[in-house]
Amino acid sequence: MAKSFAVIGDPIDHSLSPNIHSAAFREMDLDSSYIAYRIPKGELDAGIAGLKKIKIDGFNITIPHKIEMMKYLDKADESCSLIGAVNTVSNEKGILMGYNTDMDGFLEPFKKRELDVADSKVLLLGAGGAARAIVAGFAKEKAKSITVANRTLDNADNLSGFARSIGLDAHAAKLGDADVRNYDIIVNATSVGLGNEQSVISLDGITGETIIYDIVYMPMNTDFVKKAKEKNAVVIYGYEMLLGQAVRAFEIWHGMKAPYNAMKKALLGGF
Ligand code: ATR
Repeated sequence: MAKSFAVIGDPIDHSLSPNIHSAAFREMDLDSSYIAYRIPKGELDAGIAGLKKIKIDGFNITIPHKIEMMKYLDKADESCSLIGAVNTVSNEKGILMGYNTDMDGFLEPFKKRELDVADSKVLLLGAGGAARAIVAGFAKEKAKSITVANRTLDNADNLSGFARSIGLDAHAAKLGDADVRNYDIIVNATSVGLGNEQSVISLDGITGETIIYDIVYMPMNTDFVKKAKEKNAVVIYGYEMLLGQAVRAFEIWHGMKAPYNAMKKALLGGF
């Protein structure tokens, strides 16, 4: 039987998820479709009722609904409950099951490159929703320590409290107060870069061993990534996390290995 999927959020018209999943359906010869569905903030209730009515088989959730969506779930997997946010739902005869594939999606590029996260010292820039899933990922992989540096210190304090609660040695700092030379991995999880802005910190002092990961995927070469390349650092691009979370969602919905290369090609074609 034909299956239908969607991504919900607002704004949603520039979402690359329909391209990525449609390419996977074609590659695997699946009779499925995937659409972008705009649900404005405050209208999630009616939106979810509509999706249930058309018996949607699954959907992804993006800004601004990842946290609020939690209360519409009938069941939530471990990562979802831990992070307190959901980005993937499967609908089994009206029962909504939630997953958070952002965490494993974030970790995927480390695995692909065979980079060991265990025992590394991490500097995380930003303390919003995306940063929270990333903290959970570093806890899962047993990083040695994490410094959460953020524009608003209160938010950094909150997130480092969460990090400690799940077993990480965590500290909070103001953006700019962290010394980049002290870290093995530096992640930009702020939204800065999306509008081609300058990186939130200088990368002077990093080495060719430092892993620099920007979760901003558009543009692909943010100022942060360019600065990392100037230092010959190991670069992980934001599109890789996007692809990682989509691959996991595909596998949850279809119960088969995702066609990674076809999905990557579709994603990069969107740039
Ligand atoms: P997301 O879901 O993408 O993580 P978010 O929850 O709104 O989005 O978080 C955005 C992050 O980017 C926050 O850490 C925010 O810092 P504040 O906590 O101080 O708001 C950070 N951010 C956004 N604009 C920024 C800017 N111009 N300079 C520095 N940090 C910025």
